[in-house]
Amino acid sequence: MLVAPSVLAADFSKLAEELRSVEEAGADLVHLDVMDGHFVPNLTFGPVVVKGMRKLSRLPFEAHLMISEPARYARRFAEAGVQWLTFHVESEGWSEALEEAGRLGLKRGLALNPETPLSAVEPHLEELDLVLVMSVHPGFSGQRFIPEVLPKIERLREIKEREGLGFLIGVDGGINPETAPLVARAGAELVAVGSAFFKAPDRAELVKFLKSL
Ligand code: DX5
Ligand code: ZN
Repeated sequence: MLVAPSVLAADFSKLAEELRSVEEAGADLVHLDVMDGHFVPNLTFGPVVVKGMRKLSRLPFEAHLMISEPARYARRFAEAGVQWLTFHVESEGWSEALEEAGRLGLKRGLALNPETPLSAVEPHLEELDLVLVMSVHPGFSGQRFIPEVLPKIERLREIKEREGLGFLIGVDGGINPETAPLVARAGAELVAVGSAFFKAPDRAELVKFLKSL
């Protein structure tokens, strides 16, 4: 299991320390939740802040773009230093965004909301490095895991195995020591973890546990 702490749940008054602790805890990549107050009802940060964060970590950055018209911003995030770009299949122009990310040489992810059926991403699986199954409604950290998405993860694993495809199966939202084993059993290979990571009494211990699943 790859572990991607989501800095949305970090203490932004000491971001440098928080990012250092992500690295020290043994995480694999940093999950950056970008929100525009339009695609989702919350605002976070954009490429300017990501560029600043880039100086504070050696880990790969994965930007999860919860924004409208993501194609307009792909290049800006690449220039800010992200290695992975994840778009929402519910956003307008996501396929152009995916193409642009490919031209920029980035790893490409496609996220889908809890209600969105797998059929929305199925025709594109071959082009993807990551399918990010949302297990909460995007917008906020600290929400409860939605167990109804588990069959979607299982189905994704079946397709991946049957077709011999290379994308990673990621799950984002409400992941903690109770829910992580469920998604691992269903086939998840990467988890984005916000609150559970930043509230953990021992972050390294948590990462070790998640990686063991
Ligand atoms: C939700 C974000 C998630 C969130 C995860 O919109 O995409 O990445 O920060 O936070 P937790 O783990 O607290 O649900
Ligand atoms: Zn996210």
